[in-house]
Amino acid sequence: MKSILIRNIKSLSGVRDANVRLVSGAEMKILPAIENAFVLIENGLIKAFGRNEGAPERADEVIDATGKFVLPTWCDSHTHLVYAGSRENEFVDKIKGLTYEEIAVRGGGILNSAKRLAETSEEELFDSAWLRLETIQDFGTGAVEIKSGYGLSYDAELKMLRVIRRLKEKSALTIKSTFLGAHAYPAQFKTNHEGYLKILLGELLPKIADEGLADFIDVFCEESYFSAAETDRILAAGVKYGLKPKVHVNQFNVLGGVAVSINYGALSVDHLEHISDEDIAALKNSNTMPVALPGCSLFLKIPYTPARKIMDAGLPLALATDFNPGSAPSGNMNLVNALACINMNMLPEEVINASTLNGAYAMNVTQELGSITIGKKANLILTKPVSSLAMLPYTFGDNLVERNIIG
Ligand code: NIG
Ligand code: FE
Repeated sequence: MKSILIRNIKSLSGVRDANVRLVSGAEMKILPAIENAFVLIENGLIKAFGRNEGAPERADEVIDATGKFVLPTWCDSHTHLVYAGSRENEFVDKIKGLTYEEIAVRGGGILNSAKRLAETSEEELFDSAWLRLETIQDFGTGAVEIKSGYGLSYDAELKMLRVIRRLKEKSALTIKSTFLGAHAYPAQFKTNHEGYLKILLGELLPKIADEGLADFIDVFCEESYFSAAETDRILAAGVKYGLKPKVHVNQFNVLGGVAVSINYGALSVDHLEHISDEDIAALKNSNTMPVALPGCSLFLKIPYTPARKIMDAGLPLALATDFNPGSAPSGNMNLVNALACINMNMLPEEVINASTLNGAYAMNVTQELGSITIGKKANLILTKPVSSLAMLPYTFGDNLVERNIIG
């Protein structure tokens, strides 16, 4: 039984009751905190916290946090961090003026990553993903969702999901896995959508459910990818196999994917660079978390998700990296938070709530993560000495996380 005491904390931020599962609208401006605080960790869980005067005398390890903040680790609820190779050639093409869609038409994009992934062994995939996990841990991430979707065949999708399962087994981070076989139609099924859907729904889903290889199901609902009607069919099948939907919607076009996702009880709808009044109204009558991915907006030079419009409607919002080789080759949640402040007019308190508690909600781990709550996992960010938490997004591109304590 190992205990860690962190004392003399300048501010212990994100303190919440266990029954608070998410924060919405104007509440997102509030980040409850205790000044001059201590927190006691036992067996990887938050055992006690409060004002410094009440701190226990001893523990196996004592950390002095004078001048430093402690807050819950980031919950990055949307990534594609298992992938093969990289796509910096497309990055250069983009600089020369090609759009994401033009690059995809030329055989770049998701299909390019799928080709490389098919040629890469499970071992190599695991090793490269492991390095990415180590990198995001340094940035303060304590939980991460990882999608398949660069396999796009029976064997390669299973290979990706098995890599994610191994990451879950080996890493101390909390990891959730999502089946995104419906990421793009492989070239040979371009005009035979039924053929591909038969593999996804008839062969892969039963196998994945049987082996417990995924927690969630996702679809890229977008023009030239999966229509709203196809999304409906795929989510219906996923739900039948016990997979909760988390769906790519409204990245370039509003196709009605938000309403379809909500209809199947989606945990989250992600991207939302475009959002209609109907989408907002539907979200208000749902338990679905909107998720913004500002790293993707930066990298693709597409609009940012209208965060103020969403929060002003009284809705919650989560932030995630979308870490992937094509549209967001960075897993840095600190940068995501800075982008949300700079380009989405979110306040520092709002981005911290969006990246901790609401992120935890969007990957179904609020019971154990996302806030400073007795009994939750002690996945905690210890900052460098800083004058206020606004310093984190203010120093964009920097990393003021001194230590990421995982349990
Ligand atoms: O979330 N939008 C779809 N999927 C990824 C991009 C994937 C890629 O380009 O490789 C995204 O942005
Ligand atoms: Fe994505």
